Amino acid sequence: MKLIPVGVLGAGKYVPDRILTNKELETMVDTNDEWIVSRTGIKERRIAADHQATSDLCLEAAQIALTNAGITADQLDLIIVATVTPDMPFPSTACILQEKMGAKKAAAFDLSAACSGFIYGLANASNFIATGTYQYALVIGADCLSRITDYTDRNTCILFGDGAGAVVIGAVPEGRGFRSFELGADGTGGPLLKLEGGGSRNPASPATLDSRLHYIYMAGAEVFKFAVRIMGNAADEALRKAGMEKEDIDLLIPHQANIRIIQSSLSKLHLNEDKCMINLDKYGNMSAASIPVALAEAAEQGRVKEGDKLVLVGFGGGLTWGASVLVW
Ligand code: ACO
Repeated sequence: MKLIPVGVLGAGKYVPDRILTNKELETMVDTNDEWIVSRTGIKERRIAADHQATSDLCLEAAQIALTNAGITADQLDLIIVATVTPDMPFPSTACILQEKMGAKKAAAFDLSAACSGFIYGLANASNFIATGTYQYALVIGADCLSRITDYTDRNTCILFGDGAGAVVIGAVPEGRGFRSFELGADGTGGPLLKLEGGGSRNPASPATLDSRLHYIYMAGAEVFKFAVRIMGNAADEALRKAGMEKEDIDLLIPHQANIRIIQSSLSKLHLNEDKCMINLDKYGNMSAASIPVALAEAAEQGRVKEGDKLVLVGFGGGLTWGASVLVW
């Protein structure tokens, strides 16, 4: 069976207006701007307004992606929302969004792979298009991490922000589009990064609230070590599958968790910082949204041109990782 080449037809991003600065965090927990910037590279992050849930962020990003792709919502065949902060356990955020957009013929589902979710979503959706099952898919990475962040825990609250990034994918000319995907998981690392409350193991109760189980728990140093190891390996593997070398990379779009993790990936890939999209100083770690927001912003800023070879790479809770080579 001949596969159809699949690529990005249009991208869009949305971040809420409200900015939470390091200075403001200094008034909330025992931390300081110098520590946060030197240990993470983050200066500020965006926080959703009270009336906004993840589907609202998705809608804003999706509308820009559709406009840039030159299609309308009713042409979409599929919507995948990668998120760990759905509006509610069910219906899925993708279904809520489908209704908001009026994407009447689109199948819709959520995907849970934490910060790797957007790449997992791209891999899934591109198969439907490559095989001719569907023509257009909307893939979104979106999270409202502020809703599951403990703002009394200085180990985590300095890191996270809210946002959404969306792409419309579809058929592209031969030689362009996604050239490889590398996905992986290591469930033994699950306990390092988790939110235990509110699921079938620990249904919401006064006890789960007292134990603060509805907030992110993270063993930061262990996750850091995993990230440093896996980012380079996953990117290498995606390049190998695409038949490309490190030198071929025009732009690296990494998950925006920590500047030190990004710098270590750059050194493993022998790349200079000017070949890397970095915006975590403005947005912090937005989980599934980080990579698509960075991708949409790179496109907005004219940092990618036709034929450029991009490597998207991320890691996250699960533990999971994902990488892809994309010819723009
Ligand atoms: N301000 C000041 N001091 C702090 C802060 C803070 N905000 N946070 C921690 N510290 C202290 C610690 O308590 C510790 O003090 P101690 O030695 O007296 O105990 C000291 O700083 C050093 O702590 P470390 O954990 O060693 O700091 P590290 O260099 O590892 O940086 C960080 C911490 C930034 C969290 C880092 O480990 C990291 O980025 N880890 C990866 C995080 C990540 O990528 N997570 C992905 C999650 S995304 C998702 O799936 C939702």
